[in-house]
This record gives sequence, structure tokens and C-alpha cells, in this order.
Amino acid sequence: MAYENIIFEVAEGIATITFNRPKALNALNGDLLDEMADALDKIEEDEDIRVLVLTGSGDKSFVAGADITELATFNPLQAKLFARKGLQTIGRLQNLFIPVIAAVNGFALGGGSEMALASDFIYASENASFGLPEIKLGIIPGFGGTQRLPRLIGASMAKEMIYTGKLITAAEAEKIGMVNRVLAPDALMDETMKTAREIAAKGKVSLRAAKQAINSGLNVDINTGCQIETDSFAICMASVDGKEGTRAFIEKRKADFKGTLKD
Ligand code: CAA
Repeated sequence: MAYENIIFEVAEGIATITFNRPKALNALNGDLLDEMADALDKIEEDEDIRVLVLTGSGDKSFVAGADITELATFNPLQAKLFARKGLQTIGRLQNLFIPVIAAVNGFALGGGSEMALASDFIYASENASFGLPEIKLGIIPGFGGTQRLPRLIGASMAKEMIYTGKLITAAEAEKIGMVNRVLAPDALMDETMKTAREIAAKGKVSLRAAKQAINSGLNVDINTGCQIETDSFAICMASVDGKEGTRAFIEKRKADFKGTLKD
């Protein structure tokens, strides 16, 4: 599939999807979501990709939400199909075997915030802002925002953001635990890639196990969560990477993780 709404790149085991509709502040339309789904298929099929980074083109916006021009044309059935497509595509970020970092370089509104929230963590530039402003359009978030935001920052803070539709700055987002780091705009991608490379050097089996244990554990009681962790821990110990990592420590050398999920 040729991409017209995203840029998809892979280097050093790190895939980058850049939302690329700068004239509409990278708003998400159906075509962009189809292209993203295709890129996620490629990522899932490629054993060598270890981390996914998401960002927006230009210096003003990550993603300014669903494309309102397109939304305005939908009847209820089309709206349902669009919301389902967005929910599924964005939901795949959470379930992707590899870690996903959102490098938020400006507006992350509506579906843009929801995209970032489905990533594993967020780095933001100082000029970034976050919000779920759907209420101002007479609608509500449709790509998981009412579910993921309260889980991340607590119900009260999420309700205030969703009921008012107000935008918060990157600094405020960092204060409430939505964003891990706030960086100068020209440092955002360098620092994101530095972290991505650090993660990419780790064992793929253990990264996958850690992501699954954390995500699954958040939806169950702590005893069940710890059981999930125990099972994942055992799988890691049986993996080539687990054996290599422990052997490398004993032999006082750097571990050479193969990162395969095939064994
Ligand atoms: N959809 C379509 N086009 C959009 C857009 C969107 N979400 N956001 C911005 N644009 C377009 C504008 O229409 C404008 O296009 P023109 O130059 O052709 O007029 C261009 O991008 C630049 O935008 P502005 O001139 O408005 O730029 P600004 O700096 O003055 O304001 C903004 C920036 C505050 C982000 C403002 O554009 C805005 O409020 N955008 C809408 C944000 C929003 O409501 N997002 C939620 C969408 S609904 C959703 O996401 C539902 C869901 O969960 C599924």
C-alpha cells in the first residue's frame, strides 16, 4: 500500500510512524487509519523491529483529533464504523508485542490524545498540549479516551478534562502523570530515539513479557496480576535471551540479545 497520510520508516530496529497531514494538523481520517493499520501489519511481521515511535509532521501538531470535516459527513452507521476502525487501530498499539513511544510534538487532541494514551508512554515537547475537546462538538471521545484517560490519571482529573474539553499544557500533563518527560522541541526526537535505542537493545521476549504483564495486570486483582507475572517470568527464563542475559552477567560481558520471538 502506498502511504499518503503517514510516513513509515525503519532504522536500527526502530519503526517510526509520522502522521503526515500538516494542512489539517495531522487530523485522523479513514484513509490515514487504513494506512496506519497496514504499517502495523508490517511491524508485526518484522522480527527485527523492536520499538515503535509515533510522531506528527511539522512543529505544531502531533494529531489534532479525528478529521472533523469527514466526521461532519457521517450518518450514525458511518460514525459507528469509523469509531470502530479508530478504536481497533489505536487499540493495536496497546497490544503490539513491542513497546510504543509517543513523541508528542504539538497538539494531541481528541483522537490524538487517545493515540498517545494507547502508547506505552509519552514524551512531549514544551509546546505540546493535550485534551479531549469532543464535548465542545457535542460528542464524546470515540477512540478509547473515556477508558484510558481515567485509568492513567484517575477518574476525577479525567472527568474534569472530558466534561470541560479544556486543553492542558505539556507541563501540566507531566504533573498529573500523563507524560514521562517534557523536552525542548528540538530535543524531542533525539531524546525519544535515545530511549528507543536503549529499549531496542534489550531482549525482545522479556520486553514483550513485561508489556503483557503490566497491561494485563492493570485489569485484574493484584494476586491474579502477580500470577501473570510469575508465568511470564518463567517463559523469560526459558528463552534464549533469558539464558544469554544471565550467562553474560556471570561471564562479565555485555549480553547479546537476539530478540527473537520464534523460540
Ligand atoms: N479536523 C479537521 N481539520 C482540522 C482539525 C480536525 N480535527 N484540526 C485542525 N484542522 C484544520 C483547520 O480546519 C485548519 O484548516 P484550514 O487552514 O483549511 O482552515 C487547519 O487545520 C489549521 O487549524 P487552525 O487554523 O484551527 O489552527 P489554530 O492554531 O488556530 O487552532 C486547534 C488549532 C486548537 C487545534 C484547532 O484547530 C482545533 O480546535 N481543532 C479541532 C480539535 C478537536 O476538536 N479535536 C477533536 C476531534 S473529534 C475526535 O477526535 C473524536 C474522537 O475521539 C474519535
